[in-house]
Amino acid sequence: MALLPILHYPDPRLRTHAEPVATVDAPVRQLIDDLLETMYAAPGIGLSATQVNVHKRVIVVDTSEQRNEPHAFVNPVIERADGFQEREEGCLSVPGFFETVKRADHIRVAALGRDGRPFELEAEGLLAVCIQHERDHLDGKLFVDYLSRLKRQRIKSKLKKQGAARSNGQR
Ligand code: NI
Repeated sequence: MALLPILHYPDPRLRTHAEPVATVDAPVRQLIDDLLETMYAAPGIGLSATQVNVHKRVIVVDTSEQRNEPHAFVNPVIERADGFQEREEGCLSVPGFFETVKRADHIRVAALGRDGRPFELEAEGLLAVCIQHERDHLDGKLFVDYLSRLKRQRIKSKLKKQGAARSNGQR
């Protein structure tokens, strides 16, 4: 397993539209394991392949308190979405910023699991938000896209400054 570097907004690679996975083979299972390890280490409750610059339709989430309920979704499709909820969201690619986003309250997602088998999951509350958030990443969409232009610009300029400081070795 390996910890993977996470891209930070406004890195243009976060805007990439990810490709469907044809077969859940050993490299895909390795990617899932690395995503989970990277997510737990961050720590975070979800991570998409897009965020580690791998443009395949793979996401992982774990919203459990004990951090022992990993879910992996390959080629996730949200088949149903009902109701709405507003919740404060953050993102490992937008470090340090938390904003309220409106999303569906209840979803049904279909995907392939780590074993390559198709499954469906009904989710609500935090888990539903997390799946919708990670699923968005695969289409190059970030939670900041739901905010006002002003808020997004403010976050972008702050993160750009931090990114410049990092590349000057002030990590
Ligand atoms: Ni995110």
